[in-house]
Amino acid sequence: MKFYAVILAGGVGKRMGNVGKPKQYLQLGSKPIIVHTVEKFAIHPGFERVLVLTPAEWVENTKDILRKSFGDSEHVIVTEGGAQRNDTVMAAIDWIEQHDGIDKDTVIVTHDAVRPFISERIIEDNLAAMKDYDACDTVIPAADTIVVSDEGEEITTIPDRKTMFRGQTPQSFKALRLRELYTSLSEKDKDWLPDACSIFTTKNIPVKLVAGEEENIKVTYPADLRMAQALIAE
Ligand code: CTP
Repeated sequence: MKFYAVILAGGVGKRMGNVGKPKQYLQLGSKPIIVHTVEKFAIHPGFERVLVLTPAEWVENTKDILRKSFGDSEHVIVTEGGAQRNDTVMAAIDWIEQHDGIDKDTVIVTHDAVRPFISERIIEDNLAAMKDYDACDTVIPAADTIVVSDEGEEITTIPDRKTMFRGQTPQSFKALRLRELYTSLSEKDKDWLPDACSIFTTKNIPVKLVAGEEENIKVTYPADLRMAQALIAE
């Protein structure tokens, strides 16, 4: 089996507000968030390469930033992502196919660039899950009760919290299987299925759960950045 780390950095970070650049380039301690994240995968010996996918206008800048940490290596590659998150994942699969070749045992470990506190244990558990599954998702138990409201005015239902989890990343996939399922979807379903794992679950293909960690936060809002600054200071 061949493993590729796929760092999803193709978003612009609208929910972070007007901070002058996509949130993955904001400084966290001594370096940009994206450098912390890429580092975790670049030092792991299990990956053929680490692919980093960014908005088109950030590709050159990202190469410069990462060169400072990782040198001119062919191991860390920066290329252009896509319009939606799943398009970015597909761009990674196409890159692997065109440059290295791909087969049914090629695995992509996809991770949000804005989750810089990923642990080695979570990466290991993702790699191990792919021995028996075509897909796995990193999750933590829901801390809050989840309230479902169809219209946003009144409660529709309150599911048992014990069956509720919060999705983190990595999400890992057999690359060809994911692309085959994704391309078989209608344009409407592509819009409606925001999460690559849901592409498997709608087709009744089992997706293994890997235990995430509370510290594996995603920097989405300014408050998350303050939380990340506190964690890095530890
Ligand atoms: N992402 C991506 N390609 C896209 C959209 C998102 O690679 N077309 C990445 C983001 O860069 C981020 C991760 O997916 O690392 C998680 O998405 P999210 O937190 O929603 O990031 P943004 O889309 O940048 O944020 P927002 O929704 O606030 O605009």
